[in-house]
Amino acid sequence: MGQSTAKKTKKSSAQTSKEDIIKLITADHEPLKRLIATLKDLNTPIRTRRRIFEQFAPLLLVHAKSEQESLYTFFKDENKELRFDGIEGEVEHALAEQMIEAVKMSEDAELWSARCKVLAELVEHHIKEEEAHILPDFKKESDVEDRILIGKQYLELKEHYRREENLTIEEEEAIEEERNRDYRPSNLMQ
Ligand SMILES: [Fe+2]
Ligand SMILES: [Fe+2]
Repeated sequence: MGQSTAKKTKKSSAQTSKEDIIKLITADHEPLKRLIATLKDLNTPIRTRRRIFEQFAPLLLVHAKSEQESLYTFFKDENKELRFDGIEGEVEHALAEQMIEAVKMSEDAELWSARCKVLAELVEHHIKEEEAHILPDFKKESDVEDRILIGKQYLELKEHYRREENLTIEEEEAIEEERNRDYRPSNLMQ
């Protein structure tokens, strides 16, 4: 009987490992990275970049706030090694949030473009740091159970912040699907 309980536990943690915070964050970075590439590209018409910014801003805010309150809070409270990284990440999130407000307030088109490009580059750098250093370092010294617990928190927080940003899950999925459409080989060949 003990053995069957152990098996069950193993199976359920395998089933929920898609809730591992590292997997969730990495997956949520993908549409952000695609939108960043367009926001940085001054050859893309400003009309298109404005439309992309309208998708990017709520998507980023929902991600960053949820990540900060789950993973970064864990770093600050529980993990001395990654405490500095958690604080640095928070500083970068706060800067990005300020830049989003600054972009929204830019009436002049070139000022809008410049601020938007700086915001995109800031977030690009931030995501690279997370993926190249913070998440791999965290993975080395954490176990999957903790990562799933933090992942569950992240998902709950996302639901809360989606409501705050008026971003529906359907809209979030539509942005994600747009990425898949962009990368279909038939589109690449056009
Ligand atoms: Fe972040
Ligand atoms: Fe992130």
